[in-house]
Amino acid sequence: MVLIPDESNFALMQQTEKEALANISSTIEDNGTILEIGSWLLGSTSIIASNTKSIVYAFDVYDSVAATKFDDSIKVDMGDINWYRQAEAKVLGLGQARSAKNLQKYISPRFPNIKCITNTKTKENYNYLLKLLTGGIDMYFEDGDHSNPVIEQHLSMFVPLIKPNGYFVVHDFEAPYANYNDLNKLVNNIISNTKTWKLVNKVDYLVILQKKA
Ligand SMILES: C[S@@+](CC[C@H](N)C(=O)[O-])C[C@H]1O[C@@H](n2cnc3c(N)ncnc32)[C@H](O)[C@@H]1O
Repeated sequence: MVLIPDESNFALMQQTEKEALANISSTIEDNGTILEIGSWLLGSTSIIASNTKSIVYAFDVYDSVAATKFDDSIKVDMGDINWYRQAEAKVLGLGQARSAKNLQKYISPRFPNIKCITNTKTKENYNYLLKLLTGGIDMYFEDGDHSNPVIEQHLSMFVPLIKPNGYFVVHDFEAPYANYNDLNKLVNNIISNTKTWKLVNKVDYLVILQKKA
């Protein structure tokens, strides 16, 4: 039985995608290394972290600030910028920064295997992350910036670090709700490389690939 924790209530994924992410996470050995790029409020991160004891590096720019006030009686639709700020206020408190420090404080008591790292977009920062990943990556979940040059940079930097039999998981692939052309093109290239990659699962807009041994 896989776990879908309460902390994932605000995850920007459908239930079917959450279950697929939980399932694949449960197959990762406990001493593994997982990289998630694009963690927002750690919703997807908590799904991963509750189904394995592996360390999960949650790499995000962590640059938003929660709403300072809101009226719960006014319905704000998902996709509206206020929906995101309100969700952040519900998790972190009114007006709190969505910083790695605040999110770490929120998540650590429940999931000590999650480590939040801010993407400061500097060479030193990427080198710091790469150092943490020198033993290889058991699962790389990409859900950050879906456009070039960032997505291309991230995939070229982190996909080669995935261990044999390790997983590459991408969200929003060929999603009808946005034009993620750069992401779609890059991921399609990887999928078509059947010598190296096996398509394990595609659930709505979540794709799971395994690197052949
Ligand atoms: C779609 S949200 C992630 C949702 C999350 N995975 C979930 O399911 O709840 C995208 C996230 O990517 C982050 N992001 C954007 N550009 C980034 C970058 N260059 N590096 C790391 N994270 C980035 C944003 O701050 C945002 O939190």
